[in-house]
Amino acid sequence: MFKDKFTSIREGYTFDDVLLLPAKTSVEPKEVEIFSKVSRNINVRVPIVSSPMDTVTEADMAIAIARYGGIGIVHRNMTVNEQARIVVKVKRSESTIIRNVLTVSPETSLVEVRSIMKAKNVSGFPVVSGEKLVGILTKRDLEFAGKSSKVVNEVMVKDVVSAPDNINIEDAREILYRNRIEKLPLVDKGNRVVGLITAKDIVTREKFPDATRDSKGQLMVGAAVGPFDIERAQTMEKMGADLIVIDTAHAHNENVLNSLKKMRKGISIDLVAGNIATAKAAEDLISTGVDGLRVGIGPGSICTTRIIAGIGVPQITAISDVAEAASSENIPVIADGGIRYSGDIVKALAAGANVVMLGSLLAGTEESPGVEMIINGRKYKSYRGMGSIGAIQTGISDRYGKIGANKFVAEGVEGAVPYRGKVEEVLFQLMGGLKSGMGYVGARTVQDLRENGEFVKITSSGLRESHPHDIRIMMEPPNYQIYQT
Ligand code: XMP
Repeated sequence: MFKDKFTSIREGYTFDDVLLLPAKTSVEPKEVEIFSKVSRNINVRVPIVSSPMDTVTEADMAIAIARYGGIGIVHRNMTVNEQARIVVKVKRSESTIIRNVLTVSPETSLVEVRSIMKAKNVSGFPVVSGEKLVGILTKRDLEFAGKSSKVVNEVMVKDVVSAPDNINIEDAREILYRNRIEKLPLVDKGNRVVGLITAKDIVTREKFPDATRDSKGQLMVGAAVGPFDIERAQTMEKMGADLIVIDTAHAHNENVLNSLKKMRKGISIDLVAGNIATAKAAEDLISTGVDGLRVGIGPGSICTTRIIAGIGVPQITAISDVAEAASSENIPVIADGGIRYSGDIVKALAAGANVVMLGSLLAGTEESPGVEMIINGRKYKSYRGMGSIGAIQTGISDRYGKIGANKFVAEGVEGAVPYRGKVEEVLFQLMGGLKSGMGYVGARTVQDLRENGEFVKITSSGLRESHPHDIRIMMEPPNYQIYQT
């Protein structure tokens, strides 16, 4: 009974145990396509998801990741209201057509207009009288109005340029340019304001052609929620989140499965569940109706779960086991944790993942909420596990073991990672490495890589040979940091 446990024991592999075989190719790295799926209905042009950790994803990270083609998942180590505010901030950061247009009337005082501008962070308003568009008022008009107590009617532009609601973006762009205006109100047949297009939003849209956007042109964003927190999930959906990501250390749990069924019925946006690391867990989760799976028990750079609890599956094996189970149902797989280099992303996708989730690699960027610090003359940013003492004390108590009021069994550590510059630069390097890997394998698409990437198992000497050796590195390239241990 005990001996048998080891006679048929499987070997589990992680990133450093394998390499991809180079194959005959007709694909150049610049030709490859890296679009993929995060969940049943969420497509991305870049297969990167930022982790819901309090030193990784808040508004700035979610905006940056979505602009460059991935999607950010806002962490939940805060109140529902705080998380909702972040989701709204991401959704409001860009849009092609603003639908809930703030308007003022000709009789509104300029004092009131200034205060609305400040409170709502807007730079102008269509002016309506009895629902009909009669003018437009921008910051510039206010600048010349002086401080005297005037009303909108005295300073607004009266010959306002507007367009019909069904105008396409190219035509709107042309009207904005021809009239040298910043804002174009959209009106229905009765001249009622039903939308607004701004020059700023059009320029931003053109600057980020790969951005992950919804049908209204707004950036997409996900929100993490606890496995039993249906209320939080519903609030996030109401606030505009495009995806709910269940955030639990062990999703293969009877209570979690029951709760997922309820949650699936209670929200209409995509629901990704995890974390898991086995095929059986994938099957059970899929049967609850979830739209994506998050894989990884203990591979993360800040995780101590495997050491503290003795539990886990090396990540390449976990990814391939889950992906195999998920493939018959076409459920996308997110490989979460343990990614240190771009080569790990290529391996994760070839093992069966559709996208990867990053913590450490993004925690060092300018857009992460972590604290900047200088250690021995070098810039770092704070990074901590969500199961670390610090993270548990400031919020989350249900992901990892909080036992009693002030007793914790931590499953993560707190530390710092090297500063890496902007998200844009990090993603450029990571995606460059991915495209290069796809070129070696001869994979034109991520799906090609998933289906045809072949692995070779390596030894510890093979790993040593893989890294630079027999040289003192004097110049650190941006995609290979000497700091790595
Ligand atoms: P990387 O390697 O990208 O991993 O830094 C990020 C992922 O690690 C998970 N995570 C934790 N796992 N204890 C754990 O065992 C923790 O305290 C912890 N915090 C985060 C999480 O899945 C994240 O995306």
